[in-house]
Amino acid sequence: MFSARSIFNTVQRRAFSVSAQQNSKVTVLGAAGGIGQPLSLLLKLNKRVSDLALYDIRGGPGVAADISHVNTKSSVNGYDPTPEGLKAALDGAEIVLIPAGVPRKPGMSRDDLFNTNASIVRDLAKAAADHAPKAKILVISNPVNSTVPITAEVFRSKGVYDPRKLFGVTTLDIVRASRFISEVKKTDPANEEVTVIGGHSGHTIVPLLSQSNHPDISGEVRNQLVNRIQFGGDEVVKAKQGAGSATLSMAYAGARMADSLLRAAQGEKNVVECTFVESPLFKDQGIDFFSSKVTLGPEGVEKIHEIGPVNEYEQGLIDVCLQDLSKNIAKGQAFVKENP
Ligand code: NAI
Repeated sequence: MFSARSIFNTVQRRAFSVSAQQNSKVTVLGAAGGIGQPLSLLLKLNKRVSDLALYDIRGGPGVAADISHVNTKSSVNGYDPTPEGLKAALDGAEIVLIPAGVPRKPGMSRDDLFNTNASIVRDLAKAAADHAPKAKILVISNPVNSTVPITAEVFRSKGVYDPRKLFGVTTLDIVRASRFISEVKKTDPANEEVTVIGGHSGHTIVPLLSQSNHPDISGEVRNQLVNRIQFGGDEVVKAKQGAGSATLSMAYAGARMADSLLRAAQGEKNVVECTFVESPLFKDQGIDFFSSKVTLGPEGVEKIHEIGPVNEYEQGLIDVCLQDLSKNIAKGQAFVKENP
């Protein structure tokens, strides 16, 4: 049985897929990596993407040649790891996804990646600010809580920062929360949406189960579910035994976020994702970036939603989150000031 709403959505989506302007260039920086390759493949399957630009310090043209044989209409180009290659990859991009950088090994926190990834993201952000200043930038490289402020500082220093166009990709936390709650409740994850706010690492990931379809989840079941959503990435790091972190589920999540932005850019209304953006919600506590529900529009961020009602347990999670988050953000901001 279809509900009236799902029929409406289907009809609406079909209407959009026919009428949508389809000339969107999407660039992936770090396209030959564990995330970059499946992400690029999923973007090749997206009818809203007309040009796919794949850049990496190694292997970009090879991945592009491979993906370009998939029989969808978009053109795919790989670029050499030179300043000219990077410029050409970025020129005219509507969306730039950045999964460049090293992933975690067992025992590492996302913050342990800071030393390597901060400079990678800073340098790619400089190139994006120079060659695609109006693009929507989706930062995947960890630690997202710091790499997003780094990107903001770089864009600001070049006079092209538009907070509506900078996103930390936390979609994997939403995807995991939906899947994990469906496993607890034996339901279809397609019908489970869980708002996840805060940041993208450990205790900064705050799922709001009280706002889900199952506000009744409590006690030890709740504690375990919240812990699994916060530390789900560790399950993958452990299972991969040193070979990296989540790549396939992350590619799926990144492709979903890019698609949401493309849909919003092409006129679809009420496109909402949780994402880590410059946010007024905790600015009075010195926290410039925060993930919450965001309505997306043609220019990127259209409306940042209030957190809404939370229970005492969730308020406790938020308090812990804010402490870590403020340090992570400050670390990113300081890095660019000290290492411009
Ligand atoms: P990977 O090592 O498999 O791939 C990274 C790619 O980046 C490599 O192909 C490498 O050559 C490339 N690269 C490095 N420096 C570059 C530069 N300056 N310019 C262009 N390309 C460059 O790593 P993986 O597994 O793809 O992870 C990438 C990042 O994504 C990591 O920082 C990881 O922690 C993060 N991640 C983020 C998640 C999220 O939810 N936001 C989830 C999972 C991972």
